[in-house]
Amino acid sequence: MSRTRLVHRCSECGTSHPKWSGRCGGCGAWNSLVGEVDGGDGDAVDHGPPAIALPIGQVDQRAGQPRPSGIDELDRVLSGGLVPGSVTLVGGEPGIGKSTLLLQLAAATTGRVLYVTAEESAQQVRARADRLGTLADHVYLVAETSLPRVRAVADSLDPQVLIIDSIQTVTDPDHPGGPGSVSQVRGCAAQLVADAKSTGRAVVMVGHVTKDGALAGPRVLEHLVDTVLAFEGDRHHALRLVRAVKHRFGTTNELGLFEMGTSGLNAVSDPSRLFLADRRDGVAGSVVVPVLEGHRPLLVEVQALVAPSGLPTPRRSVQGVDPSRLALLIAVLEQRAGLAVGANDVYASVVGGLRLGEPGADLGVAVAVASALTGQAVPEGVVLCGEVGLGGELRQVGQTPRRLGEAARLGYRCAVVARSAALEVPGLTVHAVSSLAEALAA
Ligand code: TYD
Ligand code: MG
Repeated sequence: MSRTRLVHRCSECGTSHPKWSGRCGGCGAWNSLVGEVDGGDGDAVDHGPPAIALPIGQVDQRAGQPRPSGIDELDRVLSGGLVPGSVTLVGGEPGIGKSTLLLQLAAATTGRVLYVTAEESAQQVRARADRLGTLADHVYLVAETSLPRVRAVADSLDPQVLIIDSIQTVTDPDHPGGPGSVSQVRGCAAQLVADAKSTGRAVVMVGHVTKDGALAGPRVLEHLVDTVLAFEGDRHHALRLVRAVKHRFGTTNELGLFEMGTSGLNAVSDPSRLFLADRRDGVAGSVVVPVLEGHRPLLVEVQALVAPSGLPTPRRSVQGVDPSRLALLIAVLEQRAGLAVGANDVYASVVGGLRLGEPGADLGVAVAVASALTGQAVPEGVVLCGEVGLGGELRQVGQTPRRLGEAARLGYRCAVVARSAALEVPGLTVHAVSSLAEALAA
């Protein structure tokens, strides 16, 4: 019934092109076009009965209320839990712990859960549940890769939550292309979204991430779903971070923190302590910065290293720090504080895999670079917080009292902040300074 034609589809953004070309006209990616038989855009989606328009005040509010998943760190990121009828995509590198997280989610949820394993056998998943101590009667397991059969099982079981592990391994014979191709991934996801809306069940799907960090068939999926969670961390370390990249039901500011242990993922109860666990005091180039991740204040260590460069253009290498922000701070250090960073390589990183997304860490980064350059360590027990302007001035950042409260809780004794943010915190000596140069002198 559907028209078929040959198209060249971008494996990055899903844009289809009538002719092959070396570069996608949609997103600019190189060598990303793949030939595919197209069944016509959107043919496969059943739109169901016509919608009825209601006055806005009569729209049922309760239907949009999140239901706690039972895993606090996840509920924090989801602004309360999974919303019935919503679709959540969990992206992450292979082996990071997506299946583990979703199995724990399944066990913690109240109400029936159908876990579709399209990558592992049911026995493997059961064995993992045994190891995690999460065998629960309300969790149903099916090893199935065919979408029509998955839908049939879901219809007969009628679960509150449907977990698909993973969206790249389920296929629908009605769509062209092999497993994981853009048309399959998009077609299957669109069908699952339509089912979620019509049945009111929450769907959670796993999406694999390519080596450059994008979800395979990425933007295609991001537009379709309500929520995209990124599950990150270093496979060789225990810390795992969950953040919302997109969330239609709340903020995307919150960060969920887990530790991978022998019995699965456990919430990190005191993240600041964990981030600072291996920190050595009195080392030049290391500073402690109180940052805000959503509602939660966290203390993190920022490190910098400055070394003579043999390169015509000195290296600027960052991890967790925005490279253009670092370049700006180096320029401010040179022009406003008289420090010659110029011909040196500069490395800056945030310990623990966190990313600094706010200007409140500016002062910390700048002082770390200055300290690394001069070899003079920042005294013990000091935290730094403030935004640095192009004139070298220091500006206050939001929620300073909460940041400093966290520093005091962990036994820090002194804080350097912007003059306008001066305040009293029990147990903490607060130095209010007006410029970066003054902060360095202090
Ligand atoms: P998994 O959930 O299979 O990752 P994904 O689905 O993202 O590919 O987790 C894989 C890793 O987690 C694996 O290397 C083993 C480790 N792991 C633990 O350390 N402890 C545990 O209790 C479990 C279940 C897994
Ligand atoms: Mg898995």
